[in-house]
Amino acid sequence: MALRYSNEHIDQAISKVRESTQVIPRVGIILGSGMSDLADQVDDRVSIPYSEIPHLQSAGAPGHAGSLVLGTIAGVPCVLMQGRLHLYEGHSPEAVAFPVRLMRKLGAKLLVATNAAGGVNRQYSVGDLVLVEDHINIAGMSGLDPTRGTVATHFGPRFTPLNRAYDPALLDILEKSATELKIKTHRGVYGFTCGPSFETPAEVRFLHTIGVDAVGMSTVPEVITARHSGMTVAVISAITNLAVHELDSSHITTEDEVFENAPAILKNVTRLVLSFVAAVGG
Ligand code: HPA
Repeated sequence: MALRYSNEHIDQAISKVRESTQVIPRVGIILGSGMSDLADQVDDRVSIPYSEIPHLQSAGAPGHAGSLVLGTIAGVPCVLMQGRLHLYEGHSPEAVAFPVRLMRKLGAKLLVATNAAGGVNRQYSVGDLVLVEDHINIAGMSGLDPTRGTVATHFGPRFTPLNRAYDPALLDILEKSATELKIKTHRGVYGFTCGPSFETPAEVRFLHTIGVDAVGMSTVPEVITARHSGMTVAVISAITNLAVHELDSSHITTEDEVFENAPAILKNVTRLVLSFVAAVGG
């Protein structure tokens, strides 16, 4: 399989970004569903629509704005994806990898990703935040890995190690920040399904059995891409709904439920990300 996005493609995208800003970001941040408002907290920000950046696909999912934002948070230079690309929109794993590689080549060494997720762990409540300590890449296990294909040696190796993918030291800092902010968190395992259909109850019980705490349709391709290019990674999942385990439950999981709950939870995600960036960058 040919590599669709070469180093030259990234360089063309970088040249475009550099027409607007010379900020060398230390931290890359990906904002999940309904969480775009965090970009409003960025100081001295420059916002570039994805459509103006060569080779960057557009973000078509609801709640995803589609702009690359550069500026500072608590004095730390950052680049934010205000809106992410999903496999369920029909983007290839490589297209989803592209903006992460762009953030890396712009200078970011740390990736912070947020997402909305369904709670599979029965101890979880809507509104809880999960600090992701590991993942199960269900879509990747069946072939959808962003580093598949011609080896992108200019970014990293053929085979990407993924133990300690979620940096233990960063998890400690996240937990400390959350405690200071009095935000309830769990540490948990994120299960990545391609979507866009939600899980059946049998699938939810399967995910529960194999050790998934929170399930969602994003983030893992970006995490793998980031680890492949040597970035450290921290991920926060916001539980917007509880996954339905029982076949006879009358509760129906819908995108309305996810988007209704996301804004209230967003406040805490925003506070936590801001405090975390200040802690790691200061
Ligand atoms: N399943 C998959 N993705 C999700 C969910 C869910 O229940 N909630 C938010 N994103």
